[in-house]
Amino acid sequence: MLEPSADEIRDWGDSVTAFIIEYFGGLRDRPAYRQTSSNEIRRGLDSKLPITGTDFDELLKVFRGAIVPFSRQNAHPRMFGYVQSPGTPIGAFADLLASTLNANLTIWRSAPAPVELERVTIDWIRQILGFPVEAGGLFVSGGSMANLAALAAARQTKHDSLGRLRMYASNATHFSITKAAALLGIDRENVHQIAVDERFKMRVDDLVTKITADLKCGLVPFCVVANAGTVNTGAVDPLADVREVADRFKLWMHVDGSYGAFAVLAKSARKLFVGMERADSIALDPHKWLYLPVDVGCVIYRDPEIARAAFAHEAEYTRIIGHEADEAFAFWDYGPELSRRFRALKVWMLLKGVGLDSLGKAIENNLACARHLESMVQKSDDFEMVSPVELSIFCFRHVPVQLRKESPKTIDEFNERLLVALQRDGSSYLSNAMLGGRFALRGCVLNYRTTLRDMEILLDDLRRVAKSLPAHA
Ligand SMILES: Cc1ncc(COP(=O)(O)O)c(C=O)c1O
Repeated sequence: MLEPSADEIRDWGDSVTAFIIEYFGGLRDRPAYRQTSSNEIRRGLDSKLPITGTDFDELLKVFRGAIVPFSRQNAHPRMFGYVQSPGTPIGAFADLLASTLNANLTIWRSAPAPVELERVTIDWIRQILGFPVEAGGLFVSGGSMANLAALAAARQTKHDSLGRLRMYASNATHFSITKAAALLGIDRENVHQIAVDERFKMRVDDLVTKITADLKCGLVPFCVVANAGTVNTGAVDPLADVREVADRFKLWMHVDGSYGAFAVLAKSARKLFVGMERADSIALDPHKWLYLPVDVGCVIYRDPEIARAAFAHEAEYTRIIGHEADEAFAFWDYGPELSRRFRALKVWMLLKGVGLDSLGKAIENNLACARHLESMVQKSDDFEMVSPVELSIFCFRHVPVQLRKESPKTIDEFNERLLVALQRDGSSYLSNAMLGGRFALRGCVLNYRTTLRDMEILLDDLRRVAKSLPAHA
């Protein structure tokens, strides 16, 4: 088992490939989600400590029978929950190849060609975003880690030992920003929440008011975080205006583009991102809108040398001996990790294999699906939108005729029960959001398989499931 023969490897590969073909081919026939329990899953897993080995066929049997059916099917075209990428066969194969080579991308010397491939791929992302040629960055595990790395760099720009550092982000910002602040020793309370407008975008007037007030109190503003697609509604903050305020007050501007930034590839959304190219740092997630399997996030710094000041660490066991310039390069100088898997391979294979034109079209189709849903909801008399569609996220609620005269609380409770019932039904999957103190059904189209017809099926599914629910719990 540790070192199988060539024939065994071929047999394993054939079985795995057969599974992959069957899995991707049969997605629409599976429920997006299957209601289950910890007990039911545990019954299919032998939990005895394995002293002796098991055949590969047997392992694959457990994977097919006890794992696959009890997983949420993230590649399903009506899996609209959270910000979930579907994965793609090219990404799956790239992960297999990356694990086969098992490159460890710490420094150039450890993995010369994989490191160069990561640099090439990062530079493509830099060009997609319109950042200057000196900008650079690296792949990390996801958007949360990218936000953490970027804020660690931002903190290098101003120093204060009295706990007076302040940063600013809209109240619609993802929790990974406050979490990063806490991890970096900037108290959660020092992340000032900026109000949003009726489209859930940062109100720049409130940003200026809060910075000015903090300066008057002797506090030290150092960073503003803008969203290129908020997690709840997909709102893109007014990035050019935020940049102007950041310049005026000499703040670092970080953009959290984990969900939305790759939508810059879609023509119809491009204008929303004007100003993003002038950020000091940006967090992105190829494992969201580049459709890749987890895990791959990405951080880009306008001036990588500032990140170096945050991360570089001298130790004898990591001292690079006998190399110059490009070959002395170490990723650990620019991010939090030492051992790093070959994440770049799947990003490179996707970008090179699919091409930006096709990716842009796929993202454009996702936007069109969300707009189609919005338009159907607006034309209907039993659904209403809770927030406008900006990118591919849609927030809405179901208000069947018999509920129209009920209180907001009753309608919210009904929608909460409807969400659970829809998830249990399995044909479509949504998640939820709280907006303006009200419960909303929330979906995000992030799958190249999703069609306009799927959006219609989603509304049909909700109506069908709702019929079996009483108006009151
Ligand atoms: C806007 C935003 N930022 C950050 C994150 C965190 O990304 P990750 O789950 O890759 O850590 C998410 C996740 O959904 C997100 O939507």
